[in-house]
Amino acid sequence: MSDILSRFPGYETARPLAELSSLDPAAFERDYVRRNRPVVVRGGAARWPCCEAWTLEGLRERLAGVEDLFAESQGLLEQRMREYAGSTVGAERDALREARPRGSLAHARVFLERIERGERLVAYAVPLQTPGLERMCADLGQLPFAPALSSREARFYRPRLFLYRGGYTDWHFHYADETCTVQARGTKEVLLLPPDPRTFATLWPIFRHQGSWEADPAAFRGLSPLKVRLQPGDVLYIPVFWWHAVEPVDDEIGATLALPFASSPEIQFDLRFAAARWTLQQAWSRPAERRWIPWMLLGGLWSAVRHPRGGPWRG
Ligand SMILES: [Fe+2]
Repeated sequence: MSDILSRFPGYETARPLAELSSLDPAAFERDYVRRNRPVVVRGGAARWPCCEAWTLEGLRERLAGVEDLFAESQGLLEQRMREYAGSTVGAERDALREARPRGSLAHARVFLERIERGERLVAYAVPLQTPGLERMCADLGQLPFAPALSSREARFYRPRLFLYRGGYTDWHFHYADETCTVQARGTKEVLLLPPDPRTFATLWPIFRHQGSWEADPAAFRGLSPLKVRLQPGDVLYIPVFWWHAVEPVDDEIGATLALPFASSPEIQFDLRFAAARWTLQQAWSRPAERRWIPWMLLGGLWSAVRHPRGGPWRG
């Protein structure tokens, strides 16, 4: 059982996430992506070579040429991750990247040896474009129900790998892009909460300063999460803005892939989502992202005109 997640109020009564054993592209787009609804496709990637080939020996072979596993990553996670905490939003997360291993300590072989010895560490958000990861990428396949993965390039996030033993990622949402999470190795549990005003108003002020494990459980009363356990080969679709927290439930060496694709502007920039308004504020405060602001406002306007009472994602 998960250690932190299972202490979250509502864990015991959490409803299971909708799950399917197969899904066609039209239904995925119509019933889940366009409705901003999560789903798990059991065994959706079970035939990908990674699910068979990433044994310990297989990982050793494939990672042997990765001289800097952390060069473009979010860093080496040695304790629970508080995504939004810090003097500015995400300052703790940014500090993690600054403190990432360098030089010989950054070699993937060193990281793998450490987790093989039993250390509980996470190579956090390693882009698949990282030099040397080509052999790992050759073990990935296609998701027949998600052609958008190859045709709708994500706006902000990159396809990325999480290689880990243990670890815990606290509640956060992806402020842009849709994500298909493929579990390649190990078993993880995920709790999800919807992007409704109540959830945002409850979680945001807490997680700017604290992890969920540090907060008074009473603060979360009234929230009803969805729960799903991911096994190798399962694919979890996490819609933009949905809150989620993730924890392995085993002590295995695990591997997870996060594969993003662009959201529909109608959803991404619908300023009736608190998270979309927050994204707009963030874009204003970060010069590199200001170029998106006209698109955000246009998207918000388009969404309001097209769905004056909210789109199907708000039902
Ligand atoms: Fe996430």
